[in-house]
Amino acid sequence: MKILVINGPNLARLDIRDSSIYGDLNYGELQNLIQTAATKHGFEADVRQSDDEATIIGWLHEAADKKLPVIINPAAFTHYSYAIRDAAELAKAPLIEVHLSNPLSREEFRHTSVIAGVANGTIAGFGPNSYVLAIIALKNLIG
Ligand code: DQA
Repeated sequence: MKILVINGPNLARLDIRDSSIYGDLNYGELQNLIQTAATKHGFEADVRQSDDEATIIGWLHEAADKKLPVIINPAAFTHYSYAIRDAAELAKAPLIEVHLSNPLSREEFRHTSVIAGVANGTIAGFGPNSYVLAIIALKNLIG
């Protein structure tokens, strides 16, 4: 089964982001880790990244149309994009929010997720392993 893994702004630049917050993997390595975990659990992962809100909304529409399960790290859009929330709400299959860091242990503006309320659940704070845990959660949800 196909799953769509959507990564938001600045995640393609993990190579220059703070590794004490986001871990040591660059984006290519993160993609490989996601692909490997997905294959292990019987999924075919389509892993995408965009810095652009409209592009991410288009991908969420595509997932709704194709009834694809979604794992999404909306990055900074997590905290204020009602448009991404509304698009995520259209999901016709499970949708899991993930974060590398634990936003609740960081600055106050990161304590709000406008996406969490329309996700099946949120996995945050486990570094790249957050995505692996989300794949396992998807497997459990889909059965
Ligand atoms: C993030 C957390 C967000 O607050 C931040 O803006 C990001 C990454 C994470 O994966 O920890 O870009 O979503």
